[in-house]
Amino acid sequence: MQSLKLSKLQVTNFRNLEKEVIQFGPGINCILGENGNGKTNILEAVHVLITRKSFRKNSSFPQFLSIDGDIPEIYFSSVFDGPEGSPFSFTGKWDSDRHEWYCDGRPTRKKPEVAVLFINPFDSYSFHNTASMRRTWFDQHIGVLNPEYKKVLNKYNTALRFRNALLSKKPSHFLEQIKAMDPELAKYSKILTDSRKAFLLEIQSYCSGAFKEIFSEEHLLEIQLDSKVSGWSESQIYDLLQSNLQKDTLIGHTRYGVHKDDYTLLFDGLNSFDFCSLGQQKMSYLSLLFAYIELFRYKFLSFPIVLIDDVSGELDKLRWSRLINYLEHSHFQVLITTANEKFKEELEKIDGAKRIYVDSGSVSIQ
Ligand SMILES: Nc1ncnc2c1ncn2[C@@H]1O[C@H](COP(=O)(O)OP(=O)(O)OP(=O)(O)O)[C@@H](O)[C@H]1O
Ligand SMILES: [Mg+2]
Repeated sequence: MQSLKLSKLQVTNFRNLEKEVIQFGPGINCILGENGNGKTNILEAVHVLITRKSFRKNSSFPQFLSIDGDIPEIYFSSVFDGPEGSPFSFTGKWDSDRHEWYCDGRPTRKKPEVAVLFINPFDSYSFHNTASMRRTWFDQHIGVLNPEYKKVLNKYNTALRFRNALLSKKPSHFLEQIKAMDPELAKYSKILTDSRKAFLLEIQSYCSGAFKEIFSEEHLLEIQLDSKVSGWSESQIYDLLQSNLQKDTLIGHTRYGVHKDDYTLLFDGLNSFDFCSLGQQKMSYLSLLFAYIELFRYKFLSFPIVLIDDVSGELDKLRWSRLINYLEHSHFQVLITTANEKFKEELEKIDGAKRIYVDSGSVSIQ
């Protein structure tokens, strides 16, 4: 994967955005404007261009299509700069039935070879409050860096669904079948647990480094895997599954397994969910994301394009300036939005950043 950067984007009939060419710089791009003018829509258009999906839930062609458009078709036209400065065009046409894409005018099924990371200010709250959100975050991100993890996770989930289906029927009829499949579940559990531990080991130093650099030299951020079977052998995990089988048959599903594992962000050794303020929780979450970007670069020798949708809330002026300082020194392309007047003033001070003002879907660039 290469460190591609998006240099131009023009969309037609995409939400409220005007059909105008938006020019992006290779570093920080500040997307500024009042509420409801189209800042997030620009981030979404970039996300759809690269991944063909929105970051908003349940949003696809019908939601993307401008309610003011003349024809039910959306067009994307873009230019990416390659690492050797060799630009190429990437265009697309999307209607209710299909979407077609072209790279330098030639039809292609491939997506642009660049990753994109969307950072949503509300995700910090859900991440800290919901175990399933944490599991999903780690599963997805470990899966990107380790495709084998993704495969084993799919196999584990398939086996678990089958086990639960048997347990929810007349489990006594299927006890032998469940016993026969548990070694497989134990094998996958061991691989998943080991991969999770390896990921945490790798991301840990980046995470505490980002946290110190952006938010506080005085505090320490660590991530812990909460797993009953950490360090256990396959046969120990198998024994655990078997010893729980009677209870599982009573309640009709698998009570314990690595699908129930969790992660804790530790702020100076204390659970950040119980102990931290909303601002500190957001800093911890952002540090985890920035650590992931560093790890991504280490693995793939490239950076994703980073889309940051108004993260200014709950952070004080000092954290704003440290966050901006961090972005200025990083090597990835970033598109960052805000409607907050004070944060906007800070962003406008960044030397060399592109400033994109959005007003009723129309952009003016400085
Ligand atoms: N399919 C659509 N067609 C036309 N306009 C749309 C469509 N979908 C959303 N919009 C408009 O897009 C605007 C919202 O854009 P967006 O979410 O990008 O705003 P924003 O600048 O990020 O605002 P905020 O600062 O509040 O987050 C709204 O005015 C909404 O009416
Ligand atoms: Mg927005």
